[in-house]
Amino acid sequence: ELPCSIRSFSEAAGISAAQVLKTLMGMGMMMNINAQIDQGTAELIAAELDLEISLKSQTSLEEDLIDQIEERADEEADLVPRQPIVTFLGHVDHGKTSLLDYLIGTRIVKGEAGGITQHIRAYEVDKDGRKITFVDTPGHEAFTEMRARGANVTDIAVLVIAADDGIMPQTEEAISHAKAAGVPIVVALNKMDIPGVDSNRPMTQMTEHGLTPSEWGGDVEVVRTSATTGLGMDELLDTLLTVSELNEYKANPNRDALGVCLESEQQADRGVIAKFVVQNGTLKVGDVVVCGPAHGRVKALTDTLTGEPMREAGPSTPVNVTGLDQPPGAGDRFHVLDNIAEAREIAETREFDSKSQNLSGITTKVSFEHFQQL
Ligand code: GTP
Ligand code: MG
Repeated sequence: ELPCSIRSFSEAAGISAAQVLKTLMGMGMMMNINAQIDQGTAELIAAELDLEISLKSQTSLEEDLIDQIEERADEEADLVPRQPIVTFLGHVDHGKTSLLDYLIGTRIVKGEAGGITQHIRAYEVDKDGRKITFVDTPGHEAFTEMRARGANVTDIAVLVIAADDGIMPQTEEAISHAKAAGVPIVVALNKMDIPGVDSNRPMTQMTEHGLTPSEWGGDVEVVRTSATTGLGMDELLDTLLTVSELNEYKANPNRDALGVCLESEQQADRGVIAKFVVQNGTLKVGDVVVCGPAHGRVKALTDTLTGEPMREAGPSTPVNVTGLDQPPGAGDRFHVLDNIAEAREIAETREFDSKSQNLSGITTKVSFEHFQQL
């Protein structure tokens, strides 16, 4: 038996909820629009109203709504260029966070427990008025799943390979994630400042992994970098901007936002804070959002780097969001809906589904120890 709300039923059947309620009343059942009816009752209403309906579960009805949002195509005329979302991937300690620190002028590495990144971070960098959104991912093998998700929001993957260490197991994983995501790969051959390092060995390894450097006649740009001396930093940014221009990433800022939650946390004083990357549309304060099992109205948007309040976040923008009722999971997609009741209904259905799955031990949840904020 599949329960279904009267609202969903009427939407699916293409008749007014008032008509459904009246029919129910005629059958001696007083109900309101949000009440759940079971399959038998739905069939009775259908028979009463002479409707041919195929009954689906509520989950699929709600997800249909999400699918419609996802599939709503943008008119070519509404599309404008957007900045690339670039993700750093690679083996633990090869220098992903250090490179990002150098690029944006922060010192995140210094504050990390054991120097190991346990969070996905996203920041916007401005190079002579041209922007890039960077996503830093944890390189520890326990975070394979999150890293896989990092690759899903990304337009370009920067594969960080420490020149002294070469390709390691998690470099291989990163290569397969980037290939699976179908995004261009730019290699940052890092730690080139270490005396005696030889770039030939890692580049030979790259070739063995199907990545032939462009200087050897292939199509993978290799930038020699050092997060210590700053070697290659401008070249890396220029390379990324060139790849971005070739690919002409576009989005429609004038539609309801959709995108991905990178991570989230429940904070004692501020409630739930979720880090989103907007992929299309513009997210605004006051928008109704559903994200995995969470929903709510956006209370505040803040810059992921400075913490400054923002009124809206357009395509490719990383942003911290408050106002959700619970922390969504890493990798959960978010959507803006017209009304809060709809959002609540979708979120509750998902929560119900995930609870029943948890009980049967199907799902495992990634949890985060602490969500650091600059
Ligand atoms: P995880 O987040 O744990 O995966 O590591 P990561 O890839 O972010 O590496 P991280 O930036 O934390 O750097 C690891 C270590 O390498 C640190 O001690 C850095 O100071 C050092 N390091 C990073 N880049 C360079 C570089 O270009 N040259 C040298 N000599 N050391 C570097
Ligand atoms: Mg790191």
